[in-house]
Amino acid sequence: MTSSIKLYIATTLDGYIADKNDELQWLFDVTGDGDNGYGEFLDTIDTVIMGKRTYDWLLENEPDEWGYSGKDCYVFTHQALPDNDHVKFVHPENLPDFVRTLKGNIWNVGGGELIGLFLENQLIDEFQITIAPVLLGDGIPLFPKGNYSEKLELIETKTYGQFVELHYRKIK
Ligand SMILES: NC(=O)c1ccc[n+]([C@@H]2O[C@H](COP(=O)([O-])OP(=O)(O)OC[C@H]3O[C@@H](n4cnc5c(N)ncnc54)[C@H](OP(=O)(O)O)[C@@H]3O)[C@@H](O)[C@H]2O)c1
Repeated sequence: MTSSIKLYIATTLDGYIADKNDELQWLFDVTGDGDNGYGEFLDTIDTVIMGKRTYDWLLENEPDEWGYSGKDCYVFTHQALPDNDHVKFVHPENLPDFVRTLKGNIWNVGGGELIGLFLENQLIDEFQITIAPVLLGDGIPLFPKGNYSEKLELIETKTYGQFVELHYRKIK
């Protein structure tokens, strides 16, 4: 199966995925519609990748549930950590070669640092970005400064209550 890497993430209108204290209350406070399409998206995913700071956030904030059971999960870190029941810890020397070993549809969960790394390697095929009607002024940027540039085409827009989801595909 040819792999495709998707960025699926929620952001403020001014481009932050967490506030400066790594909190997401601004996101949970927005009125959406049902699960805002999350379950439908997750069903399409075979492999999940995330940065270590996002993994730590999940362990701290959602300790009782691992939301990605049945998927291959990889956490990027420079630290040598033992794998566990849920995830493998990785620090690939050659990112494109590593990505070629991954199965099926791949979800890049974030955060910003991992997104920047993948953009610098031209490794994101689809961008499914949910915009919350919130301005924060500061925080963790969705798209950190970096050595990348992409042209995208719009595939679809959806609204879920106060959220707007923008779905783009990379123009190759
Ligand atoms: N709004 C949303 O939907 C959403 C989604 C995801 C995340 N978030 C938020 O985003 C924040 C985290 O984002 P972030 O940008 O600070 O961090 P991040 O991208 O989640 O993780 C950064 C970490 O990844 C590891 N890493 C980065 N590049 C690497 C490489 N080339 N090789 C190996 N490991 C590498 C490093 O871990 P080590 O330091 O261990 O080496 C680095 O500290 C959290 O607040 C989270 O809640 C929000």
